[in-house]
Amino acid sequence: MNIVHIFFILLSIWVIWAASVSIILRNYSSNLRKTNRTRRTDLLRKLGRDSKPQQLVGFFHPYCNAGGGGERVLWTAIAALQRTEPNIVSVVYSGDTDATKDEIISKVKARFDITLDPKSLDFVFLTSRKVIEDSTWPYFTLLGQSVGSMYLAWEAMSKLIPDLYIDTMGYAFTFHVVSLLAGIPIGAYVHYPTISTNMLNRIKSRKRWHTNSDVISSSAFLSQGKLLYYRIFMYYYSLSLRSAAFIMVNSSWTQNHINGILQHSDFLLDMSHRLVFARFLLSSKYGSATSAQIVYPPCDTREISQFPLTGRERVILSLAQFRPEKDHPTQLRAFHKLLQVRSQLKLVLIGGSRNSDDDARVNNLRSLSKELGIENNVEFIVNAPYPTMLNWLSRASIGLHTMLDEHFGINVVEFMAAGLIPVAHKSGGPLQDIVVPFNGQPTGYHADSVETFAEALQTALSLSDAEDLAMRQRARTWAVQRFSEEEFEKSWNASRWKSFLPSSEI
Ligand SMILES: *[C@@H]1O[C@H](CO)[C@@H](O)[C@H](O)[C@H]1NC(C)=O
Ligand SMILES: *[C@@H]1O[C@H](CO)[C@@H](O)[C@H](O)[C@H]1NC(C)=O
Ligand SMILES: *[C@@H]1O[C@H](CO)[C@@H](O)[C@H](O)[C@H]1NC(C)=O
Repeated sequence: MNIVHIFFILLSIWVIWAASVSIILRNYSSNLRKTNRTRRTDLLRKLGRDSKPQQLVGFFHPYCNAGGGGERVLWTAIAALQRTEPNIVSVVYSGDTDATKDEIISKVKARFDITLDPKSLDFVFLTSRKVIEDSTWPYFTLLGQSVGSMYLAWEAMSKLIPDLYIDTMGYAFTFHVVSLLAGIPIGAYVHYPTISTNMLNRIKSRKRWHTNSDVISSSAFLSQGKLLYYRIFMYYYSLSLRSAAFIMVNSSWTQNHINGILQHSDFLLDMSHRLVFARFLLSSKYGSATSAQIVYPPCDTREISQFPLTGRERVILSLAQFRPEKDHPTQLRAFHKLLQVRSQLKLVLIGGSRNSDDDARVNNLRSLSKELGIENNVEFIVNAPYPTMLNWLSRASIGLHTMLDEHFGINVVEFMAAGLIPVAHKSGGPLQDIVVPFNGQPTGYHADSVETFAEALQTALSLSDAEDLAMRQRARTWAVQRFSEEEFEKSWNASRWKSFLPSSEI
């Protein structure tokens, strides 16, 4: 046997592999599509909507009953669809098999005060959600969850095929399954990239890694292995995202990362991919997103934006869980510095404590305030009930935020909507998205060290009455407007999701 023989044997194996996978897939997916018809009709009949043409928009959100920020986005989007698109039925793929449709709808009402119409909403319950749980994958968590999510998407598509698929939980690997089996357009709302910057940076600096490592030490071997793992993962993550027709993101931070990932290219892996998978898993016929668009999540500012803007007390308020990255010591030190030039001030730190580590941190902060001799002007309120927090938001003058590189900072939005002047860290969401000029005028202050925080606090407290009121007014107007449901709906519309809905209807 010479090299030519081997080449032809390999080539035939490859052709057989590619052809059989392609035939099996085609068969399977055409079966799915046939049975899809009955399943759709059943669903529409159940909702009493089988008389008019209807389109289905499917939302992949396996934890839809969780009641967090991601769920607010989901339900706000669906409520907007229900209001503006009478011929669209929303279908949520949920793994909450322990809840019924009515229970989920009433929980959404209680938790978010969002009213959903049961007539144009239905659920497809997925029984295999455990395949995406952390605990199922103690090792290779990223990979395990991603493969698991593909399995879950398969369950979803075999239960019902919508006309447009939107993933709102960040399971990009499901796109391949949806595109292969259902051949429908895909969109995504991404809160957070699956691959962290950390990994991205390692991959970017892989040249340095290669040349730095000693050739055969076992740890170098391991890190090379890990690097390859990340690299392959990154390649497929990027490929997945590119098979979406449109991508929305919740902040500038996420946008930067997702755009970076969309541009990611890896020639060697691309070649190997094409060799192994032939033409499957290539981008869909609906075009692929080349950049992500920001759709800020809506914040509920209805109640706090009614608080009075005048008559505020000389109180500086901090709202942050007692976690290390929130950097409470800087707040105490800056306040200490401020007290050297000003008196009659109070610092109130409200925050949650999740465990004994957090408790220990609170104790350390108390000791620090004694050490600095400011304990009489500082009040800690741990795990405050909601009304207490609202009460301080209605009285305090300044909202203080010190976390470096916070992706967003909903507490800063709340400060502004409640009428406080924000003094926030000069990085991340508070710098790029939240405390930004409105009509060319500032809406608050930024700082990045004990000294600059003390100065910013001093400046904010020294405004004339007129300037003070104008600043609060601007901050409130801006926060309420930018993070409102209407703004959310406008940007959601601007993603052109509707143009991807096939016009063929039942
Ligand atoms: C599912 O069935 C409906 C109703 O017949 C049809 O309009 C739709 O195109 C089908 N979806 C797919 C992916 O075949
Ligand atoms: C975007 O989502 C991430 C992850 O859930 C969250 O940490 C961040 O605060 C969100 N940003 C906004 C603007 O809500
Ligand atoms: C979004 O688009 C729908 C029509 O598709 C329209 O009725 C609605 O008013 C739009 N919303 C906003 C806030 O522009």
